[in-house]
Amino acid sequence: MKGIIIAVNILHFIITVKSSAIFNTDYWSARASILRFEEKIALGGNLIFENDERIANDFLMDLKEKELAEAFSDPTKFSPAKNFIEAYGNIEQSKVFKIIKQMPKGAVLHSHDTSIVSEDFVFNNITYRDNLFVCDVNGTLSLRFFDVPSNDCNWQLLQRIRSNKTMADEINSRIRNQLSMITADPDSVYFNVNIAWKKFMDIFAFITPMLTYKPIYEDHFYQGLKELYEDNVLYLELRSTLPTLYELNGTEYSPIEVLKIYKEVTTRFINDYPDFVGVKIIYAPIRVMTPEEMDAFVKSAVEMKATFPNFFAGIDLVGQEDKGQPLTKYVDKLYPIINNIQTFFHAGETNWYGMKTDENLIDALLLNTKRIGHGYALTKHPFLLDIIKRQDIAIEVCPISNQVLGLVKDLRNHPASLLFADGFPVVVSNDDPGLWGAKALSYDFYEAFMGLMSRNADIRALKQLAINSIKYSSMSNDQKLKANVIWTRKWFSFINQFICDSTRDLVNVSEIVQ
Ligand SMILES: *[C@@H]1O[C@H](CO)[C@@H](O)[C@H](O)[C@H]1NC(C)=O
Ligand SMILES: *[C@@H]1O[C@H](CO)[C@@H](O)[C@H](O)[C@H]1NC(C)=O
Ligand SMILES: *[C@@H]1O[C@H](CO)[C@@H](O)[C@H](O)[C@H]1NC(C)=O
Ligand SMILES: *[C@@H]1O[C@H](CO)[C@@H](O)[C@H](O)[C@H]1NC(C)=O
Ligand SMILES: *[C@@H]1O[C@H](CO)[C@@H](O)[C@H](O)[C@H]1NC(C)=O
Ligand SMILES: [Zn+2]
Repeated sequence: MKGIIIAVNILHFIITVKSSAIFNTDYWSARASILRFEEKIALGGNLIFENDERIANDFLMDLKEKELAEAFSDPTKFSPAKNFIEAYGNIEQSKVFKIIKQMPKGAVLHSHDTSIVSEDFVFNNITYRDNLFVCDVNGTLSLRFFDVPSNDCNWQLLQRIRSNKTMADEINSRIRNQLSMITADPDSVYFNVNIAWKKFMDIFAFITPMLTYKPIYEDHFYQGLKELYEDNVLYLELRSTLPTLYELNGTEYSPIEVLKIYKEVTTRFINDYPDFVGVKIIYAPIRVMTPEEMDAFVKSAVEMKATFPNFFAGIDLVGQEDKGQPLTKYVDKLYPIINNIQTFFHAGETNWYGMKTDENLIDALLLNTKRIGHGYALTKHPFLLDIIKRQDIAIEVCPISNQVLGLVKDLRNHPASLLFADGFPVVVSNDDPGLWGAKALSYDFYEAFMGLMSRNADIRALKQLAINSIKYSSMSNDQKLKANVIWTRKWFSFINQFICDSTRDLVNVSEIVQ
């Protein structure tokens, strides 16, 4: 209401200024009102500073403004303007980033099974396990666990190759090359969207046979939760293709059995870390399916919902939208189940406009999506934006993913700036951190805070992101209550610690000055 009154006053002012062209102090008060109004409608603008948040905010904004001022005078210093693969080393040096790491960030609502763990752990831990074999086909490596290797390829025990120093160096550098998108000049290597996506999909193809050995799959998922927990995230909603897992003796596990395995690991993790709230799984196979595969998928989803009503969140489809099937192709199979199975569609993860890909946004809404994955093309569809705001459907913004996968070079040009500026229901997520040198969630929070949001966006915007991540999750009301209690306690303890550390640094500086 107050906002509307301000808006009306401003409008009135603009009209009278234009007609009378009188310049007076009203000009400056109108200008100040516009700025205040912009601040009010932006993400977090309605939050009131609680307890010592204002003090913490002053320290944070001091760091943010220094970093931005430096970049404003020398733009080459601005990390969000550079490909993340070149920038993450600099981001790690940032004081703002260090604070964001300490900050309780709530939940991750958009990330994918085999890419949630840092490349560092996959390489240094998983590829050093027993029974891992490697095979070279025309210069491309494959990795898989065996008791006795199959004879479909010239499998060699990786440990044996590594016992020779020269051969170890060579194989290790080749494995690392195939494990992630990290490369010296990413903008020229991945010079268009399709080339970036090809590399991205090649990585999944490379890691899947290694990670789907059941004991490894469990350890990998556990590690993923640990990295999130250590990054101050307390809940995860994970999209998984629920791939077939194997044992060395040939036993295999079906999608619903894999879902059960996820549940068991989650239970074990919560036992070890009781202030981690939980996990839910979204079953999300590749978006290229025959009608028979689609039938089988829908049938499994219904069975999963019935068997694990509190652990199974719903469904989605994954893979490059531009190259995959549009949602329209599956409407006849999906529409009948949307009252029973919750949907969470990736939609509009594209630079195209008026194509089947951005039109997926329309189908996602008609198919009752709870949230929209990426929604990169949303700002080109103002009518849909209007619907989304009214129906309070959250948009899962994944800045680094969009940059590395070729939609935007400089994150200041990311369309979600509009969503933050206009207080849309947004969450920030990490998509596939392990595939481009990131770890957990803080890097994406940093890019959003420094690159996509206004310089004026403050600690309340970050707080609102955390609050949103719980609000727009699929947790039950009881779980949300519990998550909010734990998060709030951690949040104010973070605020106190941050103030304490910053004050101590100030005292040290003044000691030096004296
Ligand atoms: C992998 O990590 C686990 C858990 O931290 C640890 O117990 C194990 O020893 C590690 N293995 C290797 C090969 O580094
Ligand atoms: C490897 O390359 C050879 C020669 O180009 C080709 O005949 C063969 O089909 C390739 N093998 C695979 C598995 O791609
Ligand atoms: C290690 O591998 C290299 C390259 O294949 C070979 O020349 C060398 O003789 C090997 N060293 C040992 C100790 O086997
Ligand atoms: C295969 O291995 C798994 C895991 O060790 C075991 O639980 C299962 O009983 C084994 N199955 C057969 C047929 O040996
Ligand atoms: C500041 O002083 C405290 C106590 O004297 C000390 O423990 C701390 O390391 C100092 N910090 C810095 C950044 O110098
Ligand atoms: Zn995704």
